[in-house]
Amino acid sequence: ICTHLGCIVKPTAAGFECPCHGSRFAKDGTVTGGPAPTPLGWLQVSAAGGAVIVDEAATVPAGTKVAV
Ligand code: FES
Repeated sequence: ICTHLGCIVKPTAAGFECPCHGSRFAKDGTVTGGPAPTPLGWLQVSAAGGAVIVDEAATVPAGTKVAV
């Protein structure tokens, strides 16, 4: 979710881009262009039963790794 006004970002080869006002983010969520004031949030991810589960309501500190 874009940190400018909340649009849904799209993945690109370089990271992510916001379709609303053109903010761009590196793969780690760092702002690389546009009006977004802060990096993208990192979502909580877990693995269970061979599936990857992304909790869109829970953020974790940037750089957090998944333990398997
Ligand atoms: Fe993403 Fe404005 S909401 S750049």
